[in-house]
Amino acid sequence: MALITIGCIPIIVIGVIAMSNLQWKKNSGFDNKLQLDDPYLKSNALLSDVILNYRTVISFGEKNIDSVIKKYEYLLIEPASKRIRTAHIAGFFFGYSQAARMIFVGIVFYLGTIVARKMGYKGDKVFIAIWILFSCAFGAGSAMSNVPSVKKARESAEKIFDITDEKSTLDVRETTKEQLTEIKEGKIVFKDVDFKYPSRSTKIFNQFNMEIPATFKIALVGHSGCGKSTITNLLLRFYHTHAGKILIDDEPIENYNVGKLREQIGFVQQEPVLFNRTIKENVLYGNLDADNAKIRKVCEMANALTFIESNIEDLDKEKRI
Ligand SMILES: Nc1ncnc2c1ncn2[C@@H]1O[C@H](COP(=O)(O)OP(=O)(O)OP(=O)(O)O)[C@@H](O)[C@H]1O
Ligand SMILES: [Mg+2]
Repeated sequence: MALITIGCIPIIVIGVIAMSNLQWKKNSGFDNKLQLDDPYLKSNALLSDVILNYRTVISFGEKNIDSVIKKYEYLLIEPASKRIRTAHIAGFFFGYSQAARMIFVGIVFYLGTIVARKMGYKGDKVFIAIWILFSCAFGAGSAMSNVPSVKKARESAEKIFDITDEKSTLDVRETTKEQLTEIKEGKIVFKDVDFKYPSRSTKIFNQFNMEIPATFKIALVGHSGCGKSTITNLLLRFYHTHAGKILIDDEPIENYNVGKLREQIGFVQQEPVLFNRTIKENVLYGNLDADNAKIRKVCEMANALTFIESNIEDLDKEKRI
């Protein structure tokens, strides 16, 4: 009897694996992972472009909107047909996984009855044997369905550890005694600086020279993309230069402690990043030790105090980080 039941176990194991895989796919989206040839990619890109530039899209009139909608529908044809095909396959396996238990029970009890009659076994003994093996098969199927997830988890963990283990070429936490900590006057010199961003081959600076005397207020003017923000990125040491030197008070910028250097340079980003916390907490990220008076002062300097206190939050009452 046990042999018959064991022989039928694959029916149920395959059913449970199919069922678990279906649930896994259903929970994790269309294709289980983001692929470059994801059929939704083009339509998503179009949609986000339209949302981001909705003023421009609308300004071109109704016809333009209609053509965008048509284009969007056209881009959805491929994903829709793929989705229908996947749904058919999924439907088949879902049906099979539901039917597997019944098929198993049907076969085993049918054969069990024949064997039990011929051998003269008692019905309850046959039932217990079948039920134990049925439960085992069900458990084995569930356990085996996790095998692909374990592999995926391992691959994902490897990627995360690759990132966390990568040694930074510019570790802000590294400190040595010889490093300078204070900018005394603030004279800045760029001398024959060559620079390109690691992700692009275009040179942003080619033998770039500039001198800003201490205490001078200057403005950098130039067309979009000429490298104004890049100058700030280099001064804050977000990147290494490829050639040439940047000097602060005639000392190469590499001789300064990066953390201390950044503490002494006020920097308002072109595209500000705000944390999803209170304004007070966002201000405190610049200086965790600042007291309420100082927080109010910087908000006043930024011309934001009246606006903040009129309708957003009371800086004195808000809690600290
Ligand atoms: N992180 C980055 N990775 C790769 N390329 C970048 C990066 N940041 C900027 N660039 C490119 O470097 C060039 C200079 O950019 P930068 O932001 O310094 O220009 P900008 O003068 O500040 O322009 P804007 O007036 O639009 O602010 C541009 O071509 C830009 O596309
Ligand atoms: Mg800029």
